Amino acid sequence: MSAKLHPVPEDAKRRALVDNETYLAWYERSVMDPEGFWREHGQRIDWFTPFTKVKNATFSGDVSIRWFEDGTTNAAYNCIDRHLEKRGDQAAIIFEGDEPDTARTITYRALHEEVCRLANVMKARGVAKGDRVTIYMPMVPEAAYAMLACARIGAVHSVVFGGFSPEALAGRIVDAQSTFVVTADEGVRGGKTIPLKANADKACDIAGRDGVTVETLLTLKRTGGDVAWKEGRDVWYRDETEKVEADCPAEEMSAEDPLFILYTSGSTGKPKGVLHTTGGYMVWTSITHQYVFDYHEGDIYWCAADVGWVTGHSYIVYGPLANGATTVMFEGVPTYPDASRLWQTVDKHQINIVYTAPTAIRALMGAGNEYVSKTSRSSLRVLGSVGEPINPEAWEWYHTVVGEGRCPIVDTWWQTETGGIMITPLPGATDLKPGSATRPFFGVQPQLVDAEGAVLEGEADGNLCITDSWPGQMRTVYGDHDRFIKTYFSAYPGKYFSGDGCRRDTDGYYWITGRVDDVINVSGHRMGTAEVESALVAHEAVSEAAVVGYPHAVKGQGIYCYVTLMGGREWSEDLRKQLVAQVRNEIGGIATPDKIQVAPGLPKTRSGKIMRRILRKIAEDDYGSLGDTSTLADPGVVDDLIANRQNRK
Ligand code: WTA
Repeated sequence: MSAKLHPVPEDAKRRALVDNETYLAWYERSVMDPEGFWREHGQRIDWFTPFTKVKNATFSGDVSIRWFEDGTTNAAYNCIDRHLEKRGDQAAIIFEGDEPDTARTITYRALHEEVCRLANVMKARGVAKGDRVTIYMPMVPEAAYAMLACARIGAVHSVVFGGFSPEALAGRIVDAQSTFVVTADEGVRGGKTIPLKANADKACDIAGRDGVTVETLLTLKRTGGDVAWKEGRDVWYRDETEKVEADCPAEEMSAEDPLFILYTSGSTGKPKGVLHTTGGYMVWTSITHQYVFDYHEGDIYWCAADVGWVTGHSYIVYGPLANGATTVMFEGVPTYPDASRLWQTVDKHQINIVYTAPTAIRALMGAGNEYVSKTSRSSLRVLGSVGEPINPEAWEWYHTVVGEGRCPIVDTWWQTETGGIMITPLPGATDLKPGSATRPFFGVQPQLVDAEGAVLEGEADGNLCITDSWPGQMRTVYGDHDRFIKTYFSAYPGKYFSGDGCRRDTDGYYWITGRVDDVINVSGHRMGTAEVESALVAHEAVSEAAVVGYPHAVKGQGIYCYVTLMGGREWSEDLRKQLVAQVRNEIGGIATPDKIQVAPGLPKTRSGKIMRRILRKIAEDDYGSLGDTSTLADPGVVDDLIANRQNRK
């Protein structure tokens, strides 16, 4: 693994909010005296009633996590109202549309009015504190308005990525028992339209059959495309916001009142509703946004994620707006109209900080340097990476070609569950090693353990746990606290287990090696292999399916499916297409299988457990080292799997 060291550039050091000495001192205090550290840094948000209790958390027994619990506040107030006096006319959001000639600026004052109006619409239509609102939107400012409107009145938002299918959307509406849904007629990405309203219509039908009746489907007119209309339920966003007052008080929320649910995939079962609460989450997203990106007053900051994912929640909306930043919201894709788009957008808005995913970096790297070099990028100061391990080649390209060696790269490791960044360099403090997320953020105590749970010290390779709570941590799985305990605190009792493998080098730097559970990471999107498997076996021709990830040059991991057919069914190109369509219908385009292999049998132990290790090796085209196959019930199936493998390097 490359361990080339990139020292902190002098410029970055001079400008930085936190240098290395400060990092070391603050980090030590944050773990030796978390009460004191967070009592102080908890003040970075505005409280209606100040907290007196700081931390009250245990990872044992019933697992209870509470931060700032007797304080009251409001997330939308912190993102908007408290900035109005000083920055009413400053851009809060710069919207960069799918087509390069469609940009809009929303000031903090305009944001206040938009959010208040929408909050009043929600209230007028019966949404009350604690109710769940589902948001199924394209990447337009109205998606952020909807999140903040919920926060303002104490409703709990559940944003569902616009790429999910009607089935997947319905599952989330039902799980959250959500009767108010916000959508748009159509989304637009890379010049193509996405039928969001039609999908939402189908989802409402499915949810209705499953016992949840959507009462309001608030629809934003984005393209003006044709949509079906159900009187009584469907209303136009702009018609409604015009009818109501432009002011709406921010509800006083307890620090531990829920702010949002975000569904994420795990190794088993259906996606789970990760629940985040108000006070700790706001403190965590705001402090990480400021120090990880070395955000200074006046900087223009761009996180090119989608609000459908946690990165969009924490680093397009809540973190930056809590800090009074200007946050760019991008509707399109990095390769449309061509591979220059990101860098042209940087020049157009004079963007200082860019935060994106390795999959985008690899795709742009593949398109060629000329798309980068024809742009200036002189405004850039810090570059960020998130979502999956970044390979050193992509890191070096990002650093040298995009950043011209000037810009520190912050490779940030975190998860939907952690609420915000956990392991990361700080631009003015941390010497960088390409491919390493480097060191823990303040208050984060990583630990590596082996499969039996023995703690590994020093240089080591193991499973990544966190030993104590941090303010941004998820509090529970919505509606299923037992699942929360089982998923995160039972593998290694008393510790939060991330599901990631990790190496720590002699300098104490952390290198995330990827998931060690049955979760795969496709273009930075988390996917449970079990979800894809259940979509496949739902097809009448399939009797059994096993899904694994395999290395993919651009996506990071691709989806490799093994299927066993029902007796009498023949494999055909048509059936392959049906299976692909089946998965797309059940989950969405992001789960499209890359490879499907028909297997007369799957390798199983005598007790019937599928040996995924073997399936992974074959999918990786690395079948020379299958290890011990003697425990297989029928070792012969392996030869057939190898002979018919779909990924030949
Ligand atoms: C992976 C996204 C390596 C990891 C914020 C984690 C990373 C999962 C990195 C969470 C990184 C995220 N280096 N791997 N910098 N960042 N991951 O919940 O496997 O969508 O467990 O959150 O992405 O994905 P999620």
